[in-house]
Amino acid sequence: MQKINKAIFPVAGLGTRFLPATKAMPKEMLPVVDKPLIQYAVEEAYAAGIRQMIFVNGRNKRAIPDHFDTAFELEYELEASGKKELLDVVRSIKPSDMECIYIRQPKALGLGHAVLCAQCVVVNEPFAVLLADDLMVGKPPVLKQMVEQFNEWRASILAVQEVPPEHTKRYGIVAGTKVNDRLMDLTHIVEKPAPEDAPSNLGVAGRYILTPGVFHEIANLPRGVGGEIQLTDGIANLLRREKVFAYRYDGQRYDCGSKEGFLQANVELALEHPQLGESFRAYLKTLVL
Ligand code: UTP
Repeated sequence: MQKINKAIFPVAGLGTRFLPATKAMPKEMLPVVDKPLIQYAVEEAYAAGIRQMIFVNGRNKRAIPDHFDTAFELEYELEASGKKELLDVVRSIKPSDMECIYIRQPKALGLGHAVLCAQCVVVNEPFAVLLADDLMVGKPPVLKQMVEQFNEWRASILAVQEVPPEHTKRYGIVAGTKVNDRLMDLTHIVEKPAPEDAPSNLGVAGRYILTPGVFHEIANLPRGVGGEIQLTDGIANLLRREKVFAYRYDGQRYDCGSKEGFLQANVELALEHPQLGESFRAYLKTLVL
């Protein structure tokens, strides 16, 4: 039985909603409290048993490989000054059994195109896709919940959540037949529909488990919404040949691609932080009028 061992992290988007912060740095390097978004996503994949992390980089490509690389001078200095805890923090970013692979997306042609760029590494295995700007907090971690579903159903699984009807234009929206309280056998998926055209109010969040058949579907796509090659359109075509399930995950999503979501994540994760939480809560109370 094939196990999910590869995760694709598309990190080549332009991040225009976060300019000027993202002028020279991918938005996936923005920190929530003290860790960049990409590290949260990689840790989630690792917790789901995945060991090969494939980053699809664009321009500004250096920061992410540098983050997961050994920092010899920094480690040397921390060791020499006896800062053992910080040294452990730095070394734990990349566990020794984790492999990082970097691929270039020459032009930001869309999420579907970014995923297709990783086909040469994934080849013929089922794989995960994590959009690091969707920060997911779940127990167990959301991708682990999805891997468990994949192991049971042996088919593509998309993470979904209910979204306000007026927000359907921000998401891929799905419809299908209920299998159980959390799972739906998909019949439709459409990218960013207007509320009046949306088949439901279930929106796709940034976690996918996909079978390799999706590569063939993406490769044959015309440009979709916004002139981009859309992953959603590839999945819509995959649906004609294979089963695809939507899974209503148990957890909290922060849309860190938007400023509001990013700020909410910072506040809520700071409140949970073992060292910061208490003093930060006291500080917030002083702000409440
Ligand atoms: P978004 O549409 O949220 O990211 O893509 P963006 O385009 O960078 O952001 P804005 O809207 O301009 O602020 C979702 C994910 O897909 C990646 C992005 O990096 C992000 O993680 N992506 C998107 C690519 O890797 N390549 C692309 O061509 C497009």
